[in-house]
Amino acid sequence: MKQTIHLIAISGSLRAASCNTALLRAVQAVAPSQIKVTLFEQLAQVPPFNPDIDIETVPLLAQLRDQIVAADGVFIASPEYAHGVSGVMKNLLDWLVSTPAFVNKPVATLNASPRAHHAFAALKESLTMMSALWLETASITVSVIGETTTIEAILCNPRLCAELRKALAVFTELQLEVAV
Ligand SMILES: Cc1cc2nc3c(=O)[nH]c(=O)nc-3n(C[C@H](O)[C@H](O)[C@H](O)COP(=O)(O)O)c2cc1C
Repeated sequence: MKQTIHLIAISGSLRAASCNTALLRAVQAVAPSQIKVTLFEQLAQVPPFNPDIDIETVPLLAQLRDQIVAADGVFIASPEYAHGVSGVMKNLLDWLVSTPAFVNKPVATLNASPRAHHAFAALKESLTMMSALWLETASITVSVIGETTTIEAILCNPRLCAELRKALAVFTELQLEVAV
């Protein structure tokens, strides 16, 4: 098995106090030492998708594409707005559709709100269309809206941390399967 498993985490929220971003920071914090989670923090700098523009001319996106290609997997957590994925998240996916970024890439989607199911389903649909390997067992709905919206609060919740560790373990199991 590889010594270190590299995962990229992408939050679909630009809010400073985003619970989706907090959830992904918690994934980073509870990850065992052999899993390195890198959070993509430049979503606000991603330009509006335009198929006329070559992704190579947008260094931020070309770099993210390469990072995802090189990674062992991706975690995505996006808020639901008006029964859809956040526009900034979908915009990012649109940039990556015509690239190899998600082809055969193990991806887990985290849903921070049990009320929201449209965005979760839409994300799964888009990622599957992009040939990602959507990991059902790692794609979990947790409740971090309400009182558990900060990383500190999430990390103080043993049940939540256990669920995140379980989702992370799916990526370790995948690497073990690849190794045999
Ligand atoms: C304009 C707007 C539209 C929203 N639409 C929905 C919705 O359709 N369904 C839902 O469950 N939550 C909806 N919400 C609630 C957000 O998904 C929720 O506040 C979420 O926590 C935001 O994620 P963040 O904390 O990561 O920024 C909406 C919020 C806003 C501001």
